[in-house]
Amino acid sequence: MKVRKAVIPAAGLGTRVLPATKAMPKEMLPIVDKPAIQYIVEEAVRSGIEEICIITSRGKSILEDHFDRAPELEERLKASGKEQMCDEIVAISEMANITYIRQKETKGLGHAVLCAKSFVGNEPFAVLYGDDVIIGEDPVCGQLIRTYEEFGKGCAGIKAVSPEDVRKYCSLKVDLIRDNLYSVTDMVEKPATDAEIFSLYSILGRCVLPPEIFGILETIPRGAGGEYQLTDAMKELSRREGMIGVDFCGIRYDMGNKLGVLKAIVEVGLAHREIGDDFRAYLKDLKL
Ligand code: UTP
Repeated sequence: MKVRKAVIPAAGLGTRVLPATKAMPKEMLPIVDKPAIQYIVEEAVRSGIEEICIITSRGKSILEDHFDRAPELEERLKASGKEQMCDEIVAISEMANITYIRQKETKGLGHAVLCAKSFVGNEPFAVLYGDDVIIGEDPVCGQLIRTYEEFGKGCAGIKAVSPEDVRKYCSLKVDLIRDNLYSVTDMVEKPATDAEIFSLYSILGRCVLPPEIFGILETIPRGAGGEYQLTDAMKELSRREGMIGVDFCGIRYDMGNKLGVLKAIVEVGLAHREIGDDFRAYLKDLKL
């Protein structure tokens, strides 16, 4: 079945990037000249997604404003001859068909995805974590959709990470299928001991799931950090019917921590059409 819908959970509190995120969602942190969430919506659209649901919460209405029309700003840009910028601003509001659902309490990523149950209905869907920006020629969401369409099983974007990071994310039990594709038959969220670590492969930021995940999300207990974890539901799915891990092509920036935000700004800045060369020259001259 074709994957047409995507859910972007963006309702978290972002405590690791405080105080920047006291009044502003971390998903709106800019990478040079675009907020993180715009890169993510663009990735979904480039992957062939037709309908997007963003999970928001109190204080996150600027996310909705960003993808809405801005008539006063558009008029001002036109009046001052900045037609091209005006077109760019209008294009953001026409990029995708976006629905917003509020998660009333931040009970975890699994709970955030469950909030999209009626939006998704009875079809497979993609999940793009709102604070994980992944940049590359071939959009990662599209890489997962192609894999889902080949195997008919839930898919997750995976990467081998450091032993320190695997304890912060999750650890997967994997067997190579071919090339960059792995069969995933078990996983553990935030393994506390070495004995719990299956491999250094972790799920990073993207998955494509069958609608059966909702029945699982409705029954799982609270997990790590007292939150309803999406990984716990995917663990159950992988044990029941197996999942496919896709060691994806693309560079991932974790906008949920301060170093990740800086890396994104520096690397995207260096490659930026308008300011890249000047930024490179500035860094070379910097007396460190
Ligand atoms: P994180 O666990 O990184 O988000 O969730 P967080 O809770 O904001 O982070 P810290 O630990 O306090 O810094 C990954 C994604 O899931 C969303 C977040 O907005 C983020 O994009 N999320 C998380 C929700 O939508 N709802 C939640 O209850 C938790």
